[in-house]
This record gives sequence, C-alpha cells and structure tokens, in this order.
Amino acid sequence: MSFRILGTGSALPARSVTNDDLSEFLDTSDEWIFPRTGIKSRRICTTESLDELSVEASRAALEAAGVTPDQLDLIICSTTSGDHLIPAEACAIAELLGASCPAFDVSAACAGFIFALDVADGYFARGRAERVLVVAAEKMSRLVDWEDRATCVLFGDGAAAAVLGAGGLNPLAMSLTTDPSVEILHVPGVGGTSPYDQTERPASVLAMEGRRVFKFGVSTICTSVTELAREAGVAVEDIDHFVFHQANERILSSAVARLGIDDAKVTRSLAETGNISSACVPLALDRLVRAGKITPGQLVALVGFGAGLDTGACLLRWE
Ligand code: ACO
Repeated sequence: MSFRILGTGSALPARSVTNDDLSEFLDTSDEWIFPRTGIKSRRICTTESLDELSVEASRAALEAAGVTPDQLDLIICSTTSGDHLIPAEACAIAELLGASCPAFDVSAACAGFIFALDVADGYFARGRAERVLVVAAEKMSRLVDWEDRATCVLFGDGAAAAVLGAGGLNPLAMSLTTDPSVEILHVPGVGGTSPYDQTERPASVLAMEGRRVFKFGVSTICTSVTELAREAGVAVEDIDHFVFHQANERILSSAVARLGIDDAKVTRSLAETGNISSACVPLALDRLVRAGKITPGQLVALVGFGAGLDTGACLLRWE
C-alpha cells in the first residue's frame, strides 16, 4: 500500500518551432521529418529558464492536488538538462516554491519520471513521507547539436509534475531495468578547465544511434506492458490508458501493432512537443487527466525508455 496521484501539472515554453522553421537553417524539411517521426513542431525555450518551467508545472500540480508547498515532505526532480549542475534542479524548485523539505534529482534519462516514482514509493513504504512532489523537467535544446539534422529535429523542452499522497493502492506493478550501454545514446559531460586533465574532451552534445534506439523502444514497450499486466494479475486488454515515452510516432505505432492493443488507448503529445525526454510521460499523463479522460478505477500503464539504456514501467489504478 503506497501512494496515489493527487494532482498533475505541466508547462511548456512559449516558442513553437515548426519543421519549416528548422528548414530555414538546416538541410531538412517537413516532408522528411513528419513521416519518419510524427513530429510537426516542438516548444523551445527562448527567455524561459528550466527553473521557471519546473515551478510552473509544480504549482499547477500542487493546485490540482490541493497541497501547499509547506506540506511537502520531499521533492524529486528527474532531469538530465537542469539549469545547474550544482545544486540539484529540485533545490531550485524548492527555493522558488518556498518549500523546506529535502530535495534532490534523479538522472535516468527518458525513463527518469518512473525511476523517480519508484524512489518516492520507497519513501511511502518506509513511512517517511505523506506528500511528495515528483517533477520531470528537460531543456533538451541545450543538449542537442543544432547542426546535426538527424538528432536536433527530434527534441523539445518542457516540464511536468505530479503530487503523490500516501495511502493509495499504487503502484500495482513497477519495473526498472538497465542494459548498460553508454555509446548508443549519450551526452558527454562538461570539460572543465583543469590544467591537469589530459583526457579527451568531446563536445557536450547529444549523439545517438537512431536505428538501435528504435528497436530498443519498440521491444521495451512490448515487454514492459506484458510484464506489468502479468505482475498485477490483469489482462493487457484490461488496461485503459497507455502513456508511453514520446520518442517517435513510428516507435509507438509499431509497438501498438505488435501488442495488438487498441490505438485509441495510447496517449500522444509528440506532434506538437517533440521528445522532451523524461518530461514526456508526465506531460502526456497531465493532458489525459486535464481532458477528463481518466476516471477513478481505470488502469494506466506508464512506460519510459532511453539512454542508459534504462527502462521504467509502472501500472497505476487511478484513485
Ligand atoms: N532531414 C533530412 N534528412 C535527414 C535528416 C533530417 N532531419 N536526418 C537524417 N537525414 C538523412 C541522413 O543524413 C541520411 O542521409 P544519407 O542516406 O544521404 O546519408 C538519411 O536521412 C538516413 O539517415 P538515418 O539516420 O539512417 O535515418 P533513419 O531512417 O534511421 O531515421 C530516425 C532517423 C528518425 C531518428 C530513426 O532512426 C528513428 O526513428 N530512430 C529512433 C530513435 C529516436 O526516435 N530517438 C529519439 C531520442 S531517443 C529516446 O528518446 C529514447
């Protein structure tokens, strides 16, 4: 007996960048991008900081939950692209919210929100928390190489949050995995200025083996959904909503076809947001909730996957 989701929220930067906008400075086109990815536009930060987006998403989630910042026992932020290497993004969120609880980040790339849920679950299980704010916030526009048309067209910026309360039934099932491989998808760390450092200093921009990620994404979704259902003792057909990581429409449609699930149950936000790494899953969840599409008692499967290679999957009974 662990937690239930009390409220969700999300925030996106104001500037929408279309595929045509990208073709003004890159050798690319909407005709190439949209059919291969399902992405039409993405939101990119101009004047917004990630701190600001994170707090906007957090305030929306707190308001929906009816919880004030002083009632929080813990803030966990999933990010790989925070405004600060030190301190954690979660500390900046705490400061801006006026919260005084412990705050730290988790780094599990696109699976990070589900890793953070699992960490929060541990706090509830040990009776260490009553209310936890979990935020996923990513400014991918600072990690991509804007001269690499094969990667920069895929990503966007944004933040989403959920307030969890103790005493619920969730998670019905939870699974985290790591199949260690740095090279497939990675961003080298910052070089620094050490006069002693004799190591190579590659540029700190995202590099990816797209086709391997594609296969990994499809197989992760299929395996995770099957395993979640088995662990919870329900049939895959009983699951009402599927909230998958929004990497690529072709990954989603291939997984849907392979699983044989009803496409109408699969949430999508990719077309107008691009891939926002760990913020994808909670953002898509927030949109479902705010559209009034999830009703109490329904089953919701969350699946995230990405660099690591990490996967995180969670089955929730909506309360
Ligand atoms: N516009 C025009 N041409 C392009 C673009 C672009 N944006 N990007 C690549 N190309 C060109 C390449 O230069 C190449 O040209 P060439 O044959 O003359 O050398 C050709 O298109 C094929 O390039 P590939 O990289 O092999 O393209 P691919 O068919 O694999 O498609 C894609 C790339 C869409 C990224 C695909 O690999 C994919 O869907 N991968 C899944 C990975 C993914 O979605 N990752 C998201 C982030 S990771 C995550 O969230 C877990």
